[in-house]
Amino acid sequence: MKPNDLIKKYLDFFKEKKHSIISSASLIPEHDPTVLFTTAGMHPLVPYLVGQPHPGGKRLADVQKCIRTVDIDNVGDPSHLTFFQMLGNWSLGDYFKKEAIEWSYEFLTKNLNFNPDKISVTVFEGDNDAPKDKESAGIWRSLGVPEKRIYFLPKEDNWWGPAGKTGPCGPCTEMFIDTGLGPCSNECKPGCGCGKYFEVWNDVFLEYNKIAEGKFEKLSQKNVDTGMGVERTIAMLNKKKTVYETEIFLPIIESIKKVAKVDNYGEEENKALRVISDHLRASVFILGDEHKVPPSNLDQGYILRRFIRRSIRYAKQLGIDNNFCEDIAKKIIEVNKEQWPILEKNKEFIFEELNKEEEKFKKTLETGLNKFEKMVSGQELSGTGAFLLFQSYGFPIEMTVELAKEKGLDVDLKCFEEEFKKHQELSRVGAENRFKGGLADSGQETTKLHTATHLLNQALREVLKKPDIFQKGSNITQERLRFDFNFDRKLEKEELKKVEDWVNERIKEALPVKREELTLEEAKKAGAQGVFESKYGEKVFVYSIGNKSKEICGGPHITNTKELGHFKIKKEESSAAGIRRIKAVLE
Ligand code: SER
Repeated sequence: MKPNDLIKKYLDFFKEKKHSIISSASLIPEHDPTVLFTTAGMHPLVPYLVGQPHPGGKRLADVQKCIRTVDIDNVGDPSHLTFFQMLGNWSLGDYFKKEAIEWSYEFLTKNLNFNPDKISVTVFEGDNDAPKDKESAGIWRSLGVPEKRIYFLPKEDNWWGPAGKTGPCGPCTEMFIDTGLGPCSNECKPGCGCGKYFEVWNDVFLEYNKIAEGKFEKLSQKNVDTGMGVERTIAMLNKKKTVYETEIFLPIIESIKKVAKVDNYGEEENKALRVISDHLRASVFILGDEHKVPPSNLDQGYILRRFIRRSIRYAKQLGIDNNFCEDIAKKIIEVNKEQWPILEKNKEFIFEELNKEEEKFKKTLETGLNKFEKMVSGQELSGTGAFLLFQSYGFPIEMTVELAKEKGLDVDLKCFEEEFKKHQELSRVGAENRFKGGLADSGQETTKLHTATHLLNQALREVLKKPDIFQKGSNITQERLRFDFNFDRKLEKEELKKVEDWVNERIKEALPVKREELTLEEAKKAGAQGVFESKYGEKVFVYSIGNKSKEICGGPHITNTKELGHFKIKKEESSAAGIRRIKAVLE
């Protein structure tokens, strides 16, 4: 089966079960300062899982672009990828375990024709936070799955979420296909990494909210969140043992082999092929995202830089010395453009940025590697050495750690961090640590700042007399808003003051904030601003603030501007070429 046929089959199946098909969100989460990338289909839906109504109703399905950097070290094994496509269906306080499991089983066995004898499932065994999930096990049994293929596993395996430190979570039941390998031992069961059990789908029952370390409370509604990996399911449908042998990866791997200069592909060379194909695929999707993120030393740009630089280093192992990323990117776009036309649309940007990054890194890679070899004569690589490699040769610290590990050495990370701090850049490299942080809550403060962001957006258009100013990025924490927009020069002090005044006047006017549910076409006709693309006919929310601002937006918002207090701009700076950034607070 072709990947796009699987996607279509899945969405058609759930459409028939009365689900609204929604568009994939960007890889860059909007209004969520605690995570760098969208890591699962449920991620953009968090506000709706905790009670906000979704314009598509209570049953949703989609295919979502996802990136998980936590799996970076597993890349190269049969099933882990950094970028993947996740099919999902959701119940927002509507159906629960029975329907979710029955439909999963129906889709796997009837629509995809998986042999029922090859399906094993896992369910949550229970602990102090939540009871054993006998209900799910009973549903599987009623469908004919024999007891010996229903496994009860602990939280590490059968509890999903929250995506960050806090948020919706709950027990899950996972579905595995037997690949025919193994078993590797008597202990072998789903979750074992030997390759016998290949996970394809996860049904999560989000009925809990983790509020603080160790504390769970019941959510106001019982939700279903399921996730099926497109790449993994295609591997199983087409009887491949790894995702890299599927038609999603083979053409990419072939294109790398074409430029490689090796005759024999042993373990090391095959790992290089897998890492490069995974990382460049992720890079193409980040660069070609709705937000067009370029490589940098900051946040998502830094992860992208790591992907590209790690690819270049592995390519060196295959004897590749010339710029090669563009060639591979062309293949990646060709394979994916039907499902993700935005890649084709952004291809010039993708090629340009890949070439720039390759040029930059190539200049220092060789000398940096020589330097590294000289440094590693002892038992440990000093933090100062690692910092020099970072600062002067552009080696991401994770790459230096990896190089050192290959030689059986540790890097003194503490000392590296101290060096880094000295250069006042620690926050940058620490960006990824925010994966460990909690999801942004939809609390009162963030909700207010969300509404203030709409006012700021309009104020900029009015004050700068430029109606084509648009949001290029937004990030809201409890304390402040951050807003990126297209404008090609620094704003004058007086202009910033005028923008502040404009917003504060609207606050004083006590304007009502109104939400309407329209199709995208209707929203556009009504003159609503909007930055995201959406499928024709899909319903969207449009928020109006008096008659001053009208934007397509998922919310949430306060109901009257008088709740906002006083708006103050804290900083105005450049964010990227042609993009300015404003940080502001409500006092
Ligand atoms: N959130 C769950 C997962 O990522 C199901 O979608 O596996």
